[in-house]
Amino acid sequence: METLRWRDGRLELIDQRRLPLEFEYVACDTAAQTADAIRDMVVRGAPAIGCTAAYGVALEAQRHLQAPRAQFDAALEHSFAVLAASRPTAVNLFWAIERMRQCHAQMRGGTTLAEAAALLELARQIAADDVEINRAMGRHGAKLIADGARIMTHCNAGALATAGHGTALGVIRSARDAGKRISVIANETRPYLQGARLTAWELVQENIPVTLATDNMAGHLMQQGRVDVIVVGADRIAANGDTANKIGTYTVAVLAERHRIPFYIAAPLSTIDLAIADGSAIPIEERDPAEVTGFRGLRWAPEGVSVFNPAFDVTPAALISGLITEKGVIERPDAGKIRALFGN
Ligand code: MRU
Repeated sequence: METLRWRDGRLELIDQRRLPLEFEYVACDTAAQTADAIRDMVVRGAPAIGCTAAYGVALEAQRHLQAPRAQFDAALEHSFAVLAASRPTAVNLFWAIERMRQCHAQMRGGTTLAEAAALLELARQIAADDVEINRAMGRHGAKLIADGARIMTHCNAGALATAGHGTALGVIRSARDAGKRISVIANETRPYLQGARLTAWELVQENIPVTLATDNMAGHLMQQGRVDVIVVGADRIAANGDTANKIGTYTVAVLAERHRIPFYIAAPLSTIDLAIADGSAIPIEERDPAEVTGFRGLRWAPEGVSVFNPAFDVTPAALISGLITEKGVIERPDAGKIRALFGN
């Protein structure tokens, strides 16, 4: 299964809006279409959004191969802008755009042909690296998972949220591959149901035992001693370790602390935003109220009701037992330990 792939000069994405009922790819030909696909949740999950945006820039370069340099440059600037405006929280999006921008700056003196080839090669590299990074995180994180562990996860931080293997689900996959007999509790993840639709689907496909729970069952399950460890992904981690992830993650972290259950974040270094001192400055996306008042055209809430729909919340670093990265596990992350990860 490839969450995203480059085929015949087009970017193809698994249409995650239709899973698990239908499995099909949609194609993007322009940066604007790619930005729409990110905004509309055809593709979602922080690392997958970053990889997709990189390909979005590459698409625009391919489209303007024969154009005069000024027109080529303008098309690229436009692609950076439309992609950056697609979703605000996952920092991997901006990280990937920045890498593409740096490549553009380096290649500007040469031909548009050479630059378009370099941009496509970099997008491919970002996606290939993502899979390797997830495998490294998986190896480090699997050591934290005991044989027989019952692992709770929230949202989808799986292969579908990355270029492959997954972050939190990557740890789970690697633990299974290491021979551990594990089982997973997938929180449904209201309102968009990434847990019920995507995490449950990925795990069922791979015969990893998974039980679906609605979000409001988390406290009860922990109180009953049915959860041994929690592993989730992240959309943006501030310099002090405060972590934005799917709405509901904070609730799970507070409950984990109450029940003394280890709570881990699995995320690549590209999800860490050193420019943001703490979680209070992380931009939180507000999504369409229709995601809360109904689903796929079925409405259950009365017309006229006002609605909250923040897509993410922030878990303070103090509630995080460890941050699983490609460079290893940081126990009890804080500003100093995170700086050290980057060699500062
Ligand atoms: O709104 P989404 O589905 O893009 O949110 C995704 C999450 O919150 C994931 O947990 C996070 O991106 C980590 S993905 C490896």
